[in-house]
Amino acid sequence: MAIFKDKKTLKYTIRISLFLIAVICEKVFVGSYFLACLAILGFNIAIFINIKNQPVYFENHFKQIESLLSLFFTIKPDYPMPTTRGFAASPDLLKKISEVVLNRKPGLVVEASSGVSTLMIAYCLRRIGSGKVIALEHDGKYAEISRELLKTHGLDDIATVIHAPLSNVKIDGKDWLWYDTALIDTGDIPIDLLIVDGPPNNVQEYARFPALPVLYDRLSNDCLIILDDVKRKDEQQAVEMWKNKFRFTSLEYLNFEKGAAIIHIEK
Ligand SMILES: C[S@@+](CC[C@H](N)C(=O)[O-])C[C@H]1O[C@@H](n2cnc3c(N)ncnc32)[C@H](O)[C@@H]1O
Repeated sequence: MAIFKDKKTLKYTIRISLFLIAVICEKVFVGSYFLACLAILGFNIAIFINIKNQPVYFENHFKQIESLLSLFFTIKPDYPMPTTRGFAASPDLLKKISEVVLNRKPGLVVEASSGVSTLMIAYCLRRIGSGKVIALEHDGKYAEISRELLKTHGLDDIATVIHAPLSNVKIDGKDWLWYDTALIDTGDIPIDLLIVDGPPNNVQEYARFPALPVLYDRLSNDCLIILDDVKRKDEQQAVEMWKNKFRFTSLEYLNFEKGAAIIHIEK
């Protein structure tokens, strides 16, 4: 049901429903009217929480549609666009990335992950008339899908998808998995904008932490880093670990659908 699409509401509803089932079982097997009344109260609380969360749920959807509309009117795509959200970045973040690209005019954007975000960045670079984006993709199947997507939109001269399977990398004596650096050729061009939306968080704890230590030497002196999914504990912790290791000149948390952080590093 659409009413349960908000994850928090769904979580509370499941908890309360489990409680309700437990209490009904009590009534059936123990025979207590008091517990049966509690069950009815629990059910009402579940409905109340659902109704209370409705405005937040619809407000977010409206924001995402608004962001998508404004993006599409800006980039004016030549071909139907792939879907956003879910595994792909959400429109609010895509809009922010586009604003950053259009304003800062980066020479080189590197993305850890590939997909609709790569496409949006390539459209913005084409609009500016300069710059390239390199997307690192650990999964061969998605590397091919992203390449096809860019080709269909006529942007494969601006964006390159590198299939870089995850491989072992040592950071401060500890083993991590990250895109195989031997395959990442950025030439002598420094990275002006780094977008971190991969690898997926089931790969390892704090899966996105290696991005900064591994690429630090390739960053330009005035580089921006955008991290997606900062509503998750692992990404929050990755930011803390970066903060302890590198000197941030600014750090901004964005209250987006999945949460995001924008970090400025001056080397
Ligand atoms: C969070 S996604 C990144 C999406 C990308 N930034 C975008 O906006 O489209 C991280 C990785 O998940 C993988 N992936 C993408 N779509 C997927 C799907 N539908 N199911 C499973 N994995 C997926 C790809 O390997 C991708 O690089």
